[in-house]
Formats: sequence, C-alpha cells, structure tokens
Amino acid sequence: MVGFVPTMGALHEGHLSLVRRCVKDNDVCVVSVFVNPTQFNDKHDLETYPRTLEADCSLLESAGCDFVFAPSVEEMYPEPDTRVFDFGTVSRVMEGAKRPGHFNGVAQVVSKLFYIVEPDNAYFGEKDFQQIAVIRAMVKQLNLPVTINACPIVREADGLALSSRNTRLTPEQRQKAPLIARTLRESATFVPEKSVREVIDYVVNTINSDPVMRVEYYEIVDGNTLEAIENWSDTDYPVGCVTVYCGDVRLIDNIKY
Ligand code: PAF
Repeated sequence: MVGFVPTMGALHEGHLSLVRRCVKDNDVCVVSVFVNPTQFNDKHDLETYPRTLEADCSLLESAGCDFVFAPSVEEMYPEPDTRVFDFGTVSRVMEGAKRPGHFNGVAQVVSKLFYIVEPDNAYFGEKDFQQIAVIRAMVKQLNLPVTINACPIVREADGLALSSRNTRLTPEQRQKAPLIARTLRESATFVPEKSVREVIDYVVNTINSDPVMRVEYYEIVDGNTLEAIENWSDTDYPVGCVTVYCGDVRLIDNIKY
C-alpha cells in the first residue's frame, strides 16, 4: 500500500502526526512539499509563505517518510491549469465564500498529486475540516481510487491548533490566540441546552471581546454536507467552524459538538 501526505512544507507536529499515521498504515510513505500558487487568493500570503525544505526533509526522515516529492511550479503546472471544479455546497460556504478560488486551486493540485503519486491512502488534518469535505467530493467526482483519511487536530499545550501561520503571531498575539480553542471548548458545555443561535453568539462575542481578535465567521454545520444548521436536531454530526483574525494572522479552528 502507498500512503501519501500532501503538504505545503513549514512542517510542524500536526503534519508529523499525519506522516506517522501514514507510515504505520502503509508499506511506503510519500510526502509532497509544494507551495501551490493556484490556491492562494492573496499574492502577499503566497510570497511570504514560509519555505523551509531542508528542515522539512530532516523532520520527514526522522518520522519514517520514504520519499519526499518537492516539485517546482513549472513541473506541476507545465501549462496553466484551466480546470474549474464545482462541488456544490461543500466548496461554496465558509472558506469557499471568503477565499474565492481557494478550493478550486486545492482540487487542481491535489488531483494532480494523486495522478502522480497514485496513493492508496491519503492523510489530511481535521484543522482544515472543510478542505477534507472538498477533497472527498473531488475523489468521488473524478472516480479516484484513493481513501481519504481524516486525522485529529494537534494542539499546543494551551489549546492553540498547530498551524504554519502561528509563527507569524507576535508574542502578544500568540499569548491571546488560545482564546479561540478555549471558547469553542466552553461552548460545547452549553449544548444542547442553549440554541444553535445562542451558541454562535456566545462564540463570536467572547472571541471578539478581545481587541486583538476579529471573528470572520463562525458557523455550525452538518459535518457531512456543511449545510448550516438551525437546530441541534437537524444533524447527528454538528461541527462548529471558525475563522479569526488575530491581528493580521488568519487562524482557523473547529469543534465537533
Ligand atoms: O492543507 C494543505 O497544506 C494544502 O491545502 C494541500 C492539501 C497540501 C494542497 O496544497
């Protein structure tokens, strides 16, 4: 069995947990390191994305990875990729609405990587909860013979979800950022007594009460369809997804209620 972990590098313990799981489940573990230009809708974000290939390779070696695939942009895109995907709701809501074109770029690069690596299993972190739903939809739409494995979020001791973007936080922002995970955790203690609307208001108001933070959106959705729910009885898989600007660093997190 061939296992595959697609990444954009700047690896941290979250990625390494995927790699270790991939090594455990498969005969061969392949990791790609490629900062995919087509999924960035902000040029500055693409230019400043951390690139640390040498350090990434040593981390991957110690985690037991067999092959690193680190292609150039020209190798991945010998011609511009003009494919336009439509996966319906899963790609249109939340990140899909706030970052136009982002999931199209993710589907372009992940489908190309799947064609090249031909994995049996691929591993993705649940921090990017919506990305997993989009990739599952893509695999179905393109009939790709890959099993998508979702792996739990890895957190710092204070709860902050690991992300390559965390390194951009100032010391003050880094100290405040755990408010996001703490608020989500607290909100779960109100379910199902408080309504969906009340829980949303609680999360948004609590996070926004810190002047360094600004909630871009908080939605409680059905974890399979990503349709927003109005009542807890609308789904047996409610998931809250949040995006918060901590200063100018965009952080995402989620919770299964
Ligand atoms: O989650 C990521 O790091 C990227 O979106 C992915 C899946 C590697 C595609 O570029």
